[in-house]
Amino acid sequence: MSKPVPVEDLSEADARRELARLATEIKLADAAYYKEDDPHLSDADYDALRARNAEIEARFPHLKRKDSPSERVGAEVSEAFSKVTHGVPMLSLDNAFSDEDVAEFAARIRRYLGLSDDETLTITAEPKIDGLSLSLTYEDGQFVRAATRGNGQVGEDVTANARTIEDIPDALKGKSWPGRIEIRGEVYMTGEAFEALNASQEEAGKKIFANPRNAAAGSLRQLDVAITKSRPLRFFAYAWGEVSESFAKTQTEAIETIDAWGFVTNELFKPHDTVDGLLEAYRDMAERRAMLGYDIDGVVYKVDRLDWQERLGFVSRFPRWAIAHKFPAERAVTRLEAIEIQVGRTGTLTPVARLTPVTVGGVVVSNATLHNEDEIARLDVRPGDMVEIQRAGDVIPQVLGVVDAHEANRAPPFEMPEECPECGSAAVREVDDKGEADVRRRCTGGLTCPAQAVERLKHFVSRKALDIDGLGAKQIELFYGHGVVKGPQDIFRLADRIEAAGLPPLSEWEGFGETSARNLFASIDARRTPPFQRFLNGLGIRHVGETTSGLFARSFLKWESFWDTVKKASEGDDSAEADLLSIDGVGQTAVNSLKDFAAEPHNQEMLTDLLAEVEVEDAEAAASDSPVAGKTIVFTGTLEKMTRDEAKSRATALGAKVSGSVSKKTDIVVAGPGAGSKLKKAEELGLQVMSEDDWLELAGL
Ligand code: IVH
Repeated sequence: MSKPVPVEDLSEADARRELARLATEIKLADAAYYKEDDPHLSDADYDALRARNAEIEARFPHLKRKDSPSERVGAEVSEAFSKVTHGVPMLSLDNAFSDEDVAEFAARIRRYLGLSDDETLTITAEPKIDGLSLSLTYEDGQFVRAATRGNGQVGEDVTANARTIEDIPDALKGKSWPGRIEIRGEVYMTGEAFEALNASQEEAGKKIFANPRNAAAGSLRQLDVAITKSRPLRFFAYAWGEVSESFAKTQTEAIETIDAWGFVTNELFKPHDTVDGLLEAYRDMAERRAMLGYDIDGVVYKVDRLDWQERLGFVSRFPRWAIAHKFPAERAVTRLEAIEIQVGRTGTLTPVARLTPVTVGGVVVSNATLHNEDEIARLDVRPGDMVEIQRAGDVIPQVLGVVDAHEANRAPPFEMPEECPECGSAAVREVDDKGEADVRRRCTGGLTCPAQAVERLKHFVSRKALDIDGLGAKQIELFYGHGVVKGPQDIFRLADRIEAAGLPPLSEWEGFGETSARNLFASIDARRTPPFQRFLNGLGIRHVGETTSGLFARSFLKWESFWDTVKKASEGDDSAEADLLSIDGVGQTAVNSLKDFAAEPHNQEMLTDLLAEVEVEDAEAAASDSPVAGKTIVFTGTLEKMTRDEAKSRATALGAKVSGSVSKKTDIVVAGPGAGSKLKKAEELGLQVMSEDDWLELAGL
């Protein structure tokens, strides 16, 4: 290898070429190392490639590639599949657990759409398949790509694996399909195939799967397509994503069409005109459940008319037009061995039941939540008791009650500690404005409590916050235990903190080694420009989670202007507080909690230190080319074409901000009949006022 040109002598064109070459070389080296277990470069040569890449990027930051190796750490299994961004997010479904929930679902839709009682609301019912969802793209009728759901926004490309599934047609039948269409559905494994697979796995001394769903997921996400092919996976089509043109007017018609194109759709799918009809379908499917040959965990209801589905839209992660009616949870009886206390990120003490392991619905359960001390008292559960537990889907198992309490030799009633078991600080129940004690007991130690500090750090690096690869619960505990990471800022100074503590370099720690230490530092560095929403969520402020953080991010766009407003509000500036509260979906509880956080000197210090290490990335205004995007809108008076809720959510969907009060910052006031003081104020301020019809036209609704 000839000696490389010094970076300071590179022209821009040279630099661009070199970055491309380095990206490829590093990718190949990673693949050889991780996937083929056959590194073709020495550690030193590999390091030199990465160092040169970093040096060039530092001199020419604008040339940094989308697939830059500095953004990527090694090639874990998930890196083995390339990423696919879903054109239409793959959402999940809200749950209904009772007949009343289903009636309320239908009533809510009627209210939202403003339907009169005599208008028929047709809703379809079909089984909820317990598998994993998959999106299949067809262009000109040909299958071109399969992607897993992933996090709903970005999934994994599993095209080659999906081609091995017989239920997935290579080409659509007929001629009348949209030029481009994405079919969605569930990959699953039949009970019979699952049993046979586990039997042969066992014989070969390989991994046994806990249930058919895990087996299906494990079989689809195989690097070796031959393995996927050898596993009998099936596919039910039940929905669609991006389409180049509409192809049906109702869900029923769409499913019939998809069936005619050659997919397998579920034979139990059926439309119903009444809630009673839906409930009857639910009971019918619950009865057939054991005989279907594949696992289902409930019934999915969907509004049949697609124009109504569109009007109903989405609320956070769920469509308003569909819901999953879950089957009752599976239950079992076992012994409660002990009640232990866990301290969470915000200091809540949660009693956890340690159980003699028992199988419930195919999964071994050894822990269950007891929620809080009132719940323990209500159930009167004591260590040593036989208890009934239940498990529903992926939720944490619950203790339902004591069976057969043997009075004579029972342990005394459980008492909740009044001191935090982790730090010894007082643990108290907060009393609200009405003088009622909160059900939760909370440690008052704040960040001096190691459990809270550790849980907050875990949250900070977790998937929905900074999402630092290779830095999980285990590593946080290790670093915290050695005193090198006490707050989030320390993560970004890890090497220095290790050195300052007089510890050997990370690469010499047990369980690390050259490559993983290097990868960890690289993945930390890759997160030095966290997006606004993730950063705020990561701070772990009570009542300011992922959704609320997103509302602030989309409204303020810039971290500095947001935090400035929070600081002012915490110093008693009412207009700053009003700015925070004017965001639709943000309530007083979240704002109070932000103010409390900002007022604490140790939080201020932590933030200053942290912001010296990272630069928060501005949020983008909701992607929309609508003329109302980015505008602040106030609706007042009566709306005649749609309900207030619908107006608000459709405006938000177009990228507008909906506010409840008129101020200088308002762009448009939509006034219907009966508008009063808000209209007056808008006129005083000289704001743009329009009728509902003008608004609908402007918004293109
Ligand atoms: S419809 C926008 N229909 O359940 C709604 N989902 O909890 C799209 N699922 O991620 C989903 N059977 O993986 C729909 N008949 C069915 C389903 C179904 C199973 C899964 C799907 C989804 C999850 C939501």
